[in-house]
Amino acid sequence: MKLTIIGTGYVGLVTGTCFAEVGHRVICVDNDPDKVKTLQQGGIPIYEPRLEELVRRNTEAGRLSFTTSTAEGVENSDIVFIAVPTPPLADGSVDLSFIERVARDIAGAMTAYKIVVDKSTVPVRTGDQVAETIKRYCKAQVEFDVVSNPEFLREGFAVEDLMNPDRIVIGVRSQRPVAALREVYSPFKAPVIVTDINSAELIKHASNSFLALKISYINAIAVLCEATGANVQEVANGMGMDDRIGRRFLDASLGFGGSCFPKDLSAFIKIAEQVGYDFGLLKEVQKVNTQQMNRFLKKIVDTLWVLKDKKIAVLGLAFKQNTDDIRMSPAIELCHRLQKEGAILTVYDPKAMDKARSVLKDVRFAEDMNAVAEGCDAIVIATEWDEFKKLDLDRVRKTLTHPILFDGRNLFDPAEMERLGFIYKSVGR
Ligand code: UGA
Repeated sequence: MKLTIIGTGYVGLVTGTCFAEVGHRVICVDNDPDKVKTLQQGGIPIYEPRLEELVRRNTEAGRLSFTTSTAEGVENSDIVFIAVPTPPLADGSVDLSFIERVARDIAGAMTAYKIVVDKSTVPVRTGDQVAETIKRYCKAQVEFDVVSNPEFLREGFAVEDLMNPDRIVIGVRSQRPVAALREVYSPFKAPVIVTDINSAELIKHASNSFLALKISYINAIAVLCEATGANVQEVANGMGMDDRIGRRFLDASLGFGGSCFPKDLSAFIKIAEQVGYDFGLLKEVQKVNTQQMNRFLKKIVDTLWVLKDKKIAVLGLAFKQNTDDIRMSPAIELCHRLQKEGAILTVYDPKAMDKARSVLKDVRFAEDMNAVAEGCDAIVIATEWDEFKKLDLDRVRKTLTHPILFDGRNLFDPAEMERLGFIYKSVGR
């Protein structure tokens, strides 16, 4: 099928590339000429496992192309996907100006029937506004359908999630666009659920908020575990074996971050407020998340006492593993707060160091994970990179001034760490 994706961020680029990979002809549009140039030359602006190889392969095969022209994309496609950012405003609500701009651009370029599909995470009832905007700015009397088709991919596992989705949600006002959307997704073996547009939009915010709730729940349980000598991983394993609960997203941590959960939670609370419901439950989810970081910091202060002039090594800067994304990263927040207390930092991340340079000042960037601890008073693990599990613990222990390790991601076994001679503090164990 002939598809256009507007916006080449995480969602747009991965979606466009995977659509091309299964045989569709895809035009990706972005208004940033530098980004488009990089993509045309086979480079990708983000780190995402497998993505670069897939972009190259599909560009070479002629199924995937990049342009700055929305008109070119709209003209040459039957279906236009909107995948532009929906960033937060100061009051927690969503800035929909990119969506509105794109809706107008699409309207201006339409000369025949198009299906306009929203993939960005948007507040419920945005689809109605998009339809109204297209109708208003469309030059000719062209027919169109607006569809809501939220995306559920996780950064770091984006290609895998897109290729093997749990479900595909298609929100429509009429049945007319359904067959075409089913065809787009026919190569992906996943159940398709067709709903009205408002329900589809709500499914996305409700899912993300529920996952954030799951994390805050286990983080609250972690507090109880610490107070009672229980082990949060054992508790999560025991809970997770119940199919109704499930083990995933029950890993205690120093809190969730990233460009989705914090923003989507605030947005959902605001959306509820606008329709007259006080979503107190989600406010607690936010509160637990803030407290989690405070508790972890307190653990560091309680152990090291005065942080001023203490040398601390921090492993991990990305908001999670397998990505170079540092937006709303708990690891970066931790670095800033340690610096505020006067600590001197050496940091390392397998992929996020370049991006971190713009937000972290006066830190030393280490060459590799095993060198980060040299001459430091303690080491902190802030991101759950798999490779950190292979840390040369013997070397790290010897190079630290004191063998103190704070593990914000529970990567190591407490008993084993003690046996190795570490003072080891993790979360909920
Ligand atoms: C999240 C959702 O998982 C995706 O389904 C959704 O499509 C995406 O938002 C989005 O709205 O675009 P993402 O933000 O990429 O994906 O990352 P997650 O894997 O959900 O992790 C979010 C944060 O929660 C990270 O900081 C992670 O370290 C933390 N986390 C995750 C935990 O602290 N504990 C867990 O058990 C799981």
